[in-house]
Formats: sequence, structure tokens, C-alpha cells
Amino acid sequence: MLILHFIGLTMGLGTSFAHAFLSIATSKMQEDEARRFQLHSLVLSRMGYIGIGLLIVSGLYLITPYWQTITSLPLLIVKLILVLVLLVLLILIGIRSKKAQEGDVSAQLKKIEPLGKMTMLIGIIIVILAVSVFH
Ligand code: HEM
Repeated sequence: MLILHFIGLTMGLGTSFAHAFLSIATSKMQEDEARRFQLHSLVLSRMGYIGIGLLIVSGLYLITPYWQTITSLPLLIVKLILVLVLLVLLILIGIRSKKAQEGDVSAQLKKIEPLGKMTMLIGIIIVILAVSVFH
């Protein structure tokens, strides 16, 4: 299950990094071309959703022995709260992506960008918390 957790981590956090690097490519494109490219690259988000799905399924299994002592592991509680925040952000990105695909491209992409940065930051913080709790 820890292996599955790490595969989920690779896919989930990897999606944030992929989007960050793709934004370097789009910064060198003309506005129209950049918008079309960004719209197509939203398909990468599916990898992120599979990743977070794997993290949650494997995480809920891995956390079973810790439930009884969870109050003595405050960093684990913070990690779980941040996972919830991450989920809310991902749902918002999903809603905006759908609207972008339906035609409202520029406005929605502008809103997705800061949300994407936040998911990357929160993902990194979650990894730091997880390693601090278990090592
Ligand atoms: C519902 C969601 C989650 C739960 C319940 C959960 C729970 C756990 C548990 C119990 C472990 C310890 C496994 C063990 O060695 O016994 C663990 C490890 C880990 N988790 Fe999660 N997790 C969740 C989501 C996430 C997310 C979203 C990330 C990253 C973005 C993440 C990153 C990690 C990392 C890096 C470790 C390894 C820590 C280490 O062994 O040093 N987890 N998780």
C-alpha cells in the first residue's frame, strides 16, 4: 500500500510539476497559441485525479493503525486537513476546466493558474509533513 501511495504521489505531484514546466513553454508563445496549448494540456489533470485517488485509497488503508493514537500526532492531523484543502482546490480546478472547455477559455485559465500553484505548494507541504511524522 505504501508503494501504491508513492505511485499516487508521483502522479499527483507530478501533474503540478508538469503544469509548472508547461507554463514556461506557454510563456514563449503568442496569446492565441498559448490558450489553445493550455486548453489541450488540461488533459494532464486526469493523471492528477488518478494520483489523488490512489493517495486517498492507499492512505485510508495505511492510516488504520494510527487512528487510536492520532491525537498524539498533530502533524498527521495537519496533513489530513491539508489533504482536504487540496481536494477542495482540485474540485475548483475541475469545475473551471470544464467551463474553459465549454468556451470561456481565457477567464477560466486565469483563475486556474493560481489554484494550480496553490495545489503544488500544499502538495509539497503535505510530503514534508508526512516525512516528518513517520521518520
Ligand atoms: C486521505 C489521504 C491520506 C492519508 C489518510 C494518508 C496517510 C498516510 C499514512 C498513514 C502514511 C504512513 C505509512 C506508513 O509508513 O505506515 C503515509 C505516508 C506518506 N504519505 Fe500519505 N496519506 C494521505 C494522502 C497523502 C497525500 C495527498 C500525500 C502527498 C501529496 C501524501 C504523502 C505521503 C508521503 C510522502 C508518505 C511517506 C512518509 C514516509 O514514509 O516518510 N499522503 N500517508
